[in-house]
Amino acid sequence: MADEQSRAPYLERWLTYLEEGVVPFSTPGHKQGRGAPPEFTDAFGARALALDIPHDGGTYETHLAVDPLDEAEQLAAALWGARDAVFLVNGSTTGNLAALLTLSQPGRPVIVTRAMHKSLLAGLVLSGARPVYVVPELHGESGLLLDIAPEAVEQALQAYPDATAVMIVSPTYTGVTSDIARLAVICHQHGVPLFVDEAWGPHLPFHPALPPAAIPSGADLAVTSLHKLAGALTQTAILLVGGDLVDTARLRAAVAMVQTTSPAAFLYASLDATRRRLALEGEGLLARTLELAERARGALASIPGLQVIGPEIVSGRPGAGFDRTRLVVDVQGIGLTGLEAKRRLRRDHGIAAEMADLVSVVCLLTVGDTPETIDALVRAFAALAAEQRAHRCSYDVRELGALLRATGPVVAGAPQVLTPREAYFAPVERVPLTAAAGRIAAEPITPYPPGIPVVAPGEAIRPEVVEFLQAGIAAGMRFNGASDPTLQTIRVVHE
Ligand SMILES: Cc1ncc(COP(=O)(O)O)c(C=O)c1O
Repeated sequence: MADEQSRAPYLERWLTYLEEGVVPFSTPGHKQGRGAPPEFTDAFGARALALDIPHDGGTYETHLAVDPLDEAEQLAAALWGARDAVFLVNGSTTGNLAALLTLSQPGRPVIVTRAMHKSLLAGLVLSGARPVYVVPELHGESGLLLDIAPEAVEQALQAYPDATAVMIVSPTYTGVTSDIARLAVICHQHGVPLFVDEAWGPHLPFHPALPPAAIPSGADLAVTSLHKLAGALTQTAILLVGGDLVDTARLRAAVAMVQTTSPAAFLYASLDATRRRLALEGEGLLARTLELAERARGALASIPGLQVIGPEIVSGRPGAGFDRTRLVVDVQGIGLTGLEAKRRLRRDHGIAAEMADLVSVVCLLTVGDTPETIDALVRAFAALAAEQRAHRCSYDVRELGALLRATGPVVAGAPQVLTPREAYFAPVERVPLTAAAGRIAAEPITPYPPGIPVVAPGEAIRPEVVEFLQAGIAAGMRFNGASDPTLQTIRVVHE
């Protein structure tokens, strides 16, 4: 296998294009860069433009005996322990859409995590499936999303025996993984496939100190973003097929339906090269990343006022895991919201963090980090803390904590009157939030923290949800997905 994995058939085939002296009368119209704006060519590089060709008609010509994409995908499948793999050029977003178009049916229930990425919700709109949500628990102190409780999935499958699939996110944005092995056993006892949105876990198989990856743990289908954490170019991802419960032909047809017909060969080449590097050097690279993460964790935790969240948040939860390359830095103790801290890290200290919410800043550590980048991160946080020492937090921490703890009960049990698809195509109107109780939501509203939609399209909005949102606004919560970010108004289905 090591020998096989030292090959990179797609990368190699793509590079030969330059040597062939091809004169293209085909896309892209910039024709090896000659027709591109010169200032763009200068910025991006003439060689990069000369290699910007589409897959079909560029790297892959129909007269070639072997499609290098096919070979590259099979090498990726073998490395991730999968039966098949599909390269994607529009991120895990494409994978989530294709997964729903493959594993669900219009009007039939599908068990879905309530803390889903918006692309899973888009997949529900495309497919017309009826979501039955499982709500992950929240960590008591930090309010962070925890794993999906296997018991909740078992209950949902018993209540909805005609469900076609279970779809979860693992790891979460902040690095918590679910007990995939147990979830897979439960799903298989009920004869349904388990799909894992593993967008945040492309690196998991490559170091024993990281939580187990989805496919080797028994998941039937997973999607993972190699651009996020594995060193591949932006937009690259892979769909991985595990067991026999997934019809791969249907999956490939679904991908073809939602993805461009002109995939850039350099994105496929990047996936192929990244796969080879992970196969040959992944463990060493990740050992270094984990070592740097521990160093950063220690240094940040020693700065008064900062708290770095770690694996302790899943203690006492059997089967749950935590990805230690993720740094979730709680900044409440230095009197800042995460959002403000992220803004100042970027503006004043040249540090671009991945994400922030009211409470924390999330920094990703990857195979691209070095001792120098870690030092820069720690220096920036230390400077921020020093600038802040005398300030109090701009919101009431206890009030927010109480709200976070209330999220699960508020979300649970909302009546799903219409499917997300029906709500999407229904005529809608905008009403004041204060008048929204009893109406059917036409848009999702997701407060950060904790990142669970409190309102999902097609659900009846209950009075306790309106009260929760009003208290959230007063506490400074931010809301994603709402067409009116101030949440004065909300889009509902017209009556
Ligand atoms: C859980 C989850 N799934 C899917 C996606 C979509 O991934 P991509 O940006 O690769 O399309 C994201 C993006 O942040 C995500 O957080």
